[in-house]
Amino acid sequence: EKLKKISIAIDGPAGAGKSSVAKLVANRLNYLYIDTGAMYRAFTWAVMHRNIDIADEKAVQALAETLEIRLEADVELCRVYVDGQEVTNDIRMPEVSAQVSSVAALAVVREKLVQLQKEMSMAGGVILDGRDIGTVVLPKADLKIFLTASADARAKRRWLELKNRGTVESLQQIADNIQARDKMDSHRAVSPLRQAEDAVLVDNSEISLQETAEMIVKMAEEKMR
Ligand code: DC
Repeated sequence: EKLKKISIAIDGPAGAGKSSVAKLVANRLNYLYIDTGAMYRAFTWAVMHRNIDIADEKAVQALAETLEIRLEADVELCRVYVDGQEVTNDIRMPEVSAQVSSVAALAVVREKLVQLQKEMSMAGGVILDGRDIGTVVLPKADLKIFLTASADARAKRRWLELKNRGTVESLQQIADNIQARDKMDSHRAVSPLRQAEDAVLVDNSEISLQETAEMIVKMAEEKMR
């Protein structure tokens, strides 16, 4: 039996475990994992690194036209390069987390990154995670998941993830940052975070990331036939 190479969209708020789950699913299905949040972080890193004022539309536009953002799949993580320089760890710094929602709200930035994400997904056999995948990037995705969890569960997960990467931020700082980003990401004018009508809602407050991934693999396999 020849299985179809489908495209899978995972959207949801910060800390719901989207990237961990998407990575697990990608490894199980031998699919390409595309971390779109990492792309917004990479753009934000470049803005900060070059001292660009995000209110300066011309400067942001110029950056969007020239900046090269590249993702490289690795077993463990998605490596990120900006104009050839690896920024995989830098883009997780609290300074970047604090700025990324403002940068991700800019239409010219979204246009550039959405275009790139569409091109990377063209061949199928992909799983993307973000905020607007099922609604804007891949409105025809074969499987759409809206992954969420309680605010408490999300803050704890993000804290663990950052601790494992060696970043020290208190649980309270992380909870505050998540809450602020949720608010901005859901209320911005361009492509706000929202559940696509045809997305399956998965709340994983009470189940592990592995169990969540297993559920999604099963749903994906149904769609491949
Ligand atoms: O998933 P993350 O926390 O790494 O995402 C970083 C930020 O990028 C988040 O605040 C929202 C934004 N983002 C977005 O607007 N659209 C996406 N498709 C992915 C992320």
